[in-house]
Amino acid sequence: MSEVSSLDRILVLELVRVAEGAAIAASELVGRGNEVSADQAAVDAMRRALNELEMEGTVVIGEGERDEAPMLYIGEKVGSGSGPKIDIALDPLEGTTITAKAMPGSLAVIAIAEGGNFLNSPDVYMDKIAVGGGLPQGVVDLDVPPSENLASLAKAKGKDVKDIVACVLDRPRHAELIAQVREAGARIMLIPDGDVAGVIATSSEETGIDIYLGTGGAPEGVLAAAALRCIGGQMQGRLIFRNDEERGRARNCGIDDFDRKYTMEEMAQGDVIFAATGVTDGGMLDGIRRSPSGLTTHSVVMRAKTGTVRWIKTHHSRNGRGDAL
Ligand code: FBP
Repeated sequence: MSEVSSLDRILVLELVRVAEGAAIAASELVGRGNEVSADQAAVDAMRRALNELEMEGTVVIGEGERDEAPMLYIGEKVGSGSGPKIDIALDPLEGTTITAKAMPGSLAVIAIAEGGNFLNSPDVYMDKIAVGGGLPQGVVDLDVPPSENLASLAKAKGKDVKDIVACVLDRPRHAELIAQVREAGARIMLIPDGDVAGVIATSSEETGIDIYLGTGGAPEGVLAAAALRCIGGQMQGRLIFRNDEERGRARNCGIDDFDRKYTMEEMAQGDVIFAATGVTDGGMLDGIRRSPSGLTTHSVVMRAKTGTVRWIKTHHSRNGRGDAL
């Protein structure tokens, strides 16, 4: 008989319902030009759904520190208060700007693990590198120049560097990185936002993305590491601190080595469950579809312990008052 972890008590499907609820709430605000309201709607819905779960949940990756985020802040207790002790990493709306502009690729995202298994990171930046599964361990490294990483990845994949595609957030801070990748001969897919999906995309040949490179949010880094732990791949991250105030916030999270390079396993250890629901259409998930009878959501839920990846299409009936409506 396989070992039963406390996560078994929270059904994988329950986590999907939490992501679906946030995505449905945010979808009301797609294309309305209001990032704050879209995020708030997703946060409210995700918090409501989490509080229905029987667990002693603690938000470790959330909407920000307590003084700046009134809900789902780092350290907030969620759930019924009884049941297994669960740590939660969440981003109720990953891609607030793309939601407000009705652009592709926004998601509601959540991951859970037994207590103490996620890197407790403040909301600072993180330098990230990620590749998909089935490659030699250490094929790429955050401390190696892009040209070397691309050459080593191309060799491991049996491709030419010119056929390697790197996914990079389209930001001025990445000008040098972009120049180095192109100089090395690889192609770049620039994304406007949404690097959780950018990292996950490395795990599937169908996306055409071989490697994720660059600096994005640290919370998104931990969430991406959680997903990659489940689906397979390699990732490293290093927190970036721009000032003492950010270093102070890291100290509050128990971080005192400011230069540390974290492996994927150090960011998301043990048994992890990751779920995401599409808000707008994206490469990984279709967005919310509306019809007179209700709404259809598209979600993925995966688990590190088993490596199971489930793609779930759900119809939420208006007449039957679908549970996430
Ligand atoms: P939000 O949903 O919080 O807007 O984050 C979107 C995102 O693109 C993340 O995917 C990424 O990690 C981060 O923003 C990058 O931050 P910045 O926009 O400051 O470059």
